[in-house]
Amino acid sequence: MSNALEIIEPQGPHGQFRFDGFDSMVHPKTTEEFYSQYWEQRPFFVRRDAPGYFDSLLTLADVDRYLGTKALHASEIRIVKGGVDKRFEDYSKDGIADAAQMMAAFRTGSMLLLSHMNRHHPPLAELLSRCEAQTHVPMRANAYLSPPGSTGFKLHWDTHDVLVLQISGAKKWHIYDNPLPLPHEEQMSELKHWVGQANKIDEIAMRPGSVLFLPRGYVHGAEAEDEHSLHITFGLRSLTVADIVLREFRRASLEDEDMRKVARLGDYADPASAERARQALRRVIESMDLQGAIDEVHKSFIRSRQPPRLGALLEITGQSAIDHATELRLREDALYKVFKNADGISLAVDGTVLNFPGGIETAIDYVVEHKRFTPGSLPGLEHESKLLFSRSMLDCRLVERAQAA
Ligand SMILES: [Fe+2]
Repeated sequence: MSNALEIIEPQGPHGQFRFDGFDSMVHPKTTEEFYSQYWEQRPFFVRRDAPGYFDSLLTLADVDRYLGTKALHASEIRIVKGGVDKRFEDYSKDGIADAAQMMAAFRTGSMLLLSHMNRHHPPLAELLSRCEAQTHVPMRANAYLSPPGSTGFKLHWDTHDVLVLQISGAKKWHIYDNPLPLPHEEQMSELKHWVGQANKIDEIAMRPGSVLFLPRGYVHGAEAEDEHSLHITFGLRSLTVADIVLREFRRASLEDEDMRKVARLGDYADPASAERARQALRRVIESMDLQGAIDEVHKSFIRSRQPPRLGALLEITGQSAIDHATELRLREDALYKVFKNADGISLAVDGTVLNFPGGIETAIDYVVEHKRFTPGSLPGLEHESKLLFSRSMLDCRLVERAQAA
């Protein structure tokens, strides 16, 4: 497989960023192409020079307002110069970053890294939430603001795949190959060794509207030259197969009495213990429920989400009761999954997991399949249960009133 950087040059005019989910981020690639051909595989670069392209998502003025008015805590801001972090205590008062000192640092060559910007800037929150709902890949958006002539980080790799969107200004990126493909977080300590073995594959100028995708492990560095640079990085942060297998292996091991025995050392050592451990290991591997472990990870991801809840308060305060004829529809931006097992059904939806007895299955299937329905049309439920069930679907925000904006 060639490690070369694929360069895509969409023909202008570029127009505006289409704000409609993951497709819009990887355009002109499709989400389908991205996940089958690039994710965890190879990088690409969409070259644009289109100031204002991402205006609907973020602008320099948005960041100015953000830095000037928000109370930023230590987990939300980093100031970095030449690969070294400034201590938060040195530019904060009462646990809140001081805007004047942040600007002074920026003016004198430091990069400002705004972590989890998706939690604070509604358009980013909405886009990220839609992307997660579409792909079931946990994501995070950080913004990087660099002054002219600055290098924030030294050559490094990231341990999650990243999509970089250039918002404003320009930055030169040095892209190297991936001497250790798909490094795990725990291999970060080997970074120095591997970075020394990376070969440069390209050098690119990110201008407004450009998008760079780097699978984890591709070594890179960047610098702002004669103008500032503002970009957003979307990190795609899924657990690896090893993470899930090891988690399930630990759970299954602790269920086995031989595994819970002490490994005796010295004079009390048991020469047969290694063989017994091997037998226990076989039993444990046999008993591991990997599908169950994957489902648990999936559920806990959905449970952990906090998507934007615009309209929730208005729905509660302004609601008229629903009746059997109220038109409801599946929310387009809901991230959900229905898990069926012997005990019944679990419906995981944006921050919640609801457990139902098996009898509700037909109604859930109907909602998911038809997307629009009235409580009265739900199959498999008693007259009153249709309303109760519909109310709980509204409350967990799997559905909304069809006439809602
Ligand atoms: Fe990076």
